[in-house]
Amino acid sequence: MTGKSALNYHCWRRQFLAIRTREVLSRSLLTRCFVVPFIRLTVRALLIICVLPSNLALTGIAQTAPASDAGKISLSIDASKPGPKIDRNIFGQFAEHLGLGVYEGIWVGPDSRIPNTRGMRNDVVAALKALKVPNVRWPGGCFADEYHWRKGIGPQRAVTLNPNWGGVTEPNTFGTHEYMDFLDQIGAEAYLSINVGSGTPQEAAEWLEYLTTTQPTTLGKERAANGHPAPYKIAYLGIGNESWDCGGNMTADDYVAQLKIYSRFVRNFNPAQQGKQQMLKIAVGPGGNEPRFVEWTEEVMKAWQNHKWSWDMNGLSLHNYTVVHWDNKFASVGFGETEYGQILKNTLEMEGLVSKYSTIMDKYDPQKKIALVVDEWGSWYAPLPGSNPGFLAQQNSMRDAVLAALNLNIFARHADRVRMANIAQMINVLQAMILTDKEKMVLTPSYYVYKMYVPFQDAIFVPVAFNAGTYTHGDISLPRVDAIAAKDASGKLWLELTNLDPNQSVEIQATLTGATGKTAVGETLTAPKVDSVNTFEAPNTVVPKPVSAPVQGGKLTLKLEPKSVTVISIG
Ligand code: AHR
Repeated sequence: MTGKSALNYHCWRRQFLAIRTREVLSRSLLTRCFVVPFIRLTVRALLIICVLPSNLALTGIAQTAPASDAGKISLSIDASKPGPKIDRNIFGQFAEHLGLGVYEGIWVGPDSRIPNTRGMRNDVVAALKALKVPNVRWPGGCFADEYHWRKGIGPQRAVTLNPNWGGVTEPNTFGTHEYMDFLDQIGAEAYLSINVGSGTPQEAAEWLEYLTTTQPTTLGKERAANGHPAPYKIAYLGIGNESWDCGGNMTADDYVAQLKIYSRFVRNFNPAQQGKQQMLKIAVGPGGNEPRFVEWTEEVMKAWQNHKWSWDMNGLSLHNYTVVHWDNKFASVGFGETEYGQILKNTLEMEGLVSKYSTIMDKYDPQKKIALVVDEWGSWYAPLPGSNPGFLAQQNSMRDAVLAALNLNIFARHADRVRMANIAQMINVLQAMILTDKEKMVLTPSYYVYKMYVPFQDAIFVPVAFNAGTYTHGDISLPRVDAIAAKDASGKLWLELTNLDPNQSVEIQATLTGATGKTAVGETLTAPKVDSVNTFEAPNTVVPKPVSAPVQGGKLTLKLEPKSVTVISIG
């Protein structure tokens, strides 16, 4: 994101807000069974959110939402109507060579006094293992389109520049082998972003040959000489990044021409990946709601619909950040209820974007073969005072925890199409899981949300019907609560409940169908203030605490604290 593109973003965001008001009313209960409740509505019935996966919604299964009064919200959870799988990959991470995300955040080098394993800091690895991170997108972002992989292998590493992010030097000490080792240490899969903007198909093809061949080719032997005789598994391949902007300012036609070439020639030779585990290729998709992205999405999907045997793709990316004003970004700390409400209102626009691009994709791919991959999303605030503005360093507060839960719930409700997402970015950059300062590390409120959501990884979506109620502050109206439910592989029912209201608790009364149990146990995350954060000095201000509630006669009653995220299982 450069200054120029920030301006573009600002422009399309204004247009988006204007269009959005019209769209909200036309994307009706009948088609998506979802009304965005932050519009002031007097008709109570219109506040109903039928939280169904889109395939169920479109088949018109009737859901009657129970009535709610001010302090109480009634939910009905129907575990006898399972929906699609919530792909674990929606909990993916993104680690770009940007600021202190990779260097210091992950990599301190084997000679560091910070405890490490082959250069990777042990505290960070242990914290990430607990999140069961499914995949990590690397090396960018905008950085990927200027990355030349050969500079990051072997004993001698070239020192290059990182012009996108703070104009610093890039030591290339964290390269291909270090990335794969890091993934191995945290138990995640590779999502490699190849350089389409300033590289060549040959360079990318050779990278994949280097990584995956078992044949005694020069590149295969070079990989072995560099310490890894066995081929690596590359699960996901991103073909370019924001090719309509920092990735080369291409038109949709230009990009489709590149996509065909890269998809054809960048082969994965790993014998274990020739069948079911084949590498999935993700094409560049839209970046928000600007009108040109409709055309972009149509062009790429149309090309895919008519594709020949010689090329293919499996996913289309969507980038969308939560920002109210690109040219005057909100602070990540020291804000009040107004900024809390404005940011949450903005983040709920993700629902409209996912619906809109899913609808376009449905036209060309009714069988939903192509995943919508939201591989950059999260809050983007003003840089922390005193930090390099190009490092995108920000704090992470209770507001971000609520924001994370709302987005994860949107992805889960679209699980039939959204099968992967990557929050930006994993450590020290934007909406991070972890912050570090040399040897110190602190886990953010967003980290704890991801930890609490682990049971939803690969769980089966279960519909929840409820009247969300309304939380109002000044001219901002938001749904008061949000919720999703899912069944894990053992058949256990899990429920997530978010109370957006920062001032009032809310009593939940949930009726369970198709599931039995006597108690609900789990964790709740809340904080004294909307802008409460964890710091190196006070790391436990926003941490989950245990919660339990009785289930009687198939009914669960639970009080949600103000501004809280709660995950419970019924058993
Ligand atoms: O995440 C920061 C940047 O945002 C990425 O490099 C780019 O893809 C996007 O504009």
